[in-house]
Amino acid sequence: MIRLGVNVDHVATVRQARRVDVPDPVEAALLAEAAGADGITVHLREDRRHIQERDVRILRQRLHTKLNLEMAVTPAMLAFAEDVRPDDACFVPEKREELTTEGGLDVVSHRQKIREGTQRLQSLAVRVSLFVDPETAQIEASRDAGAHAVEIHTGAYCNALSVEREKQLQAILEASKLAQSLGLEVHGGHGLNYDNVLAIAQIPEMAELNIGHSIIARAIIVGIEQAVREMKDLLSKAKE
Ligand code: PXP
Repeated sequence: MIRLGVNVDHVATVRQARRVDVPDPVEAALLAEAAGADGITVHLREDRRHIQERDVRILRQRLHTKLNLEMAVTPAMLAFAEDVRPDDACFVPEKREELTTEGGLDVVSHRQKIREGTQRLQSLAVRVSLFVDPETAQIEASRDAGAHAVEIHTGAYCNALSVEREKQLQAILEASKLAQSLGLEVHGGHGLNYDNVLAIAQIPEMAELNIGHSIIARAIIVGIEQAVREMKDLLSKAKE
């Protein structure tokens, strides 16, 4: 079955709103695991607006599944990742502030830097995925960079309606096929929720989805264990 990585960044967003120590993203992550999450994802941003370095270090010690660290490809973040050694690292664009206009990593233009970063982490047995738009050139460049996986940016699909949404889905389908044919594992993420996830989860090549905001939003209403179970149930229907 497709793996579900639960991104707990926004538990930390609520904590940082008051600069106190609750809610604790580590506690949320452990409950998410107990409810069936196959991994936990966090994004340590340059501005530290939600997840803090300490959270990542504690998660590294306490998780039972796997830790996926989303990170910019900067010297500081590479040094941090080398020190913490998450199971997986996902390279994302450095300034990813806007929700609707943001894109994936431009692997084509930053080939050398991304290849070097990938090699540094993979030599320490950290699997690297590159967060890219569903575009042929970016997928091919990801293979050239030596990445283990691509995480295909699903944001444009999630934001689109009707015909445009079909077009975006088609692009993700084709990018997934291409990526797998090049030996890359295929992941997806960004903007996925309980209403739009099924079509993405049904893509045969899709091995892992990383989902944050919708699960944490639902968790506020029904609790994180229930929110994770509901998403897992949807994913289990996708590949029946
Ligand atoms: N995948 C990547 C690479 C991301 O940067 C994010 C957002 O941090 C997600 C997945 C999760 O996105 P969302 O919170 O919209 O589910």
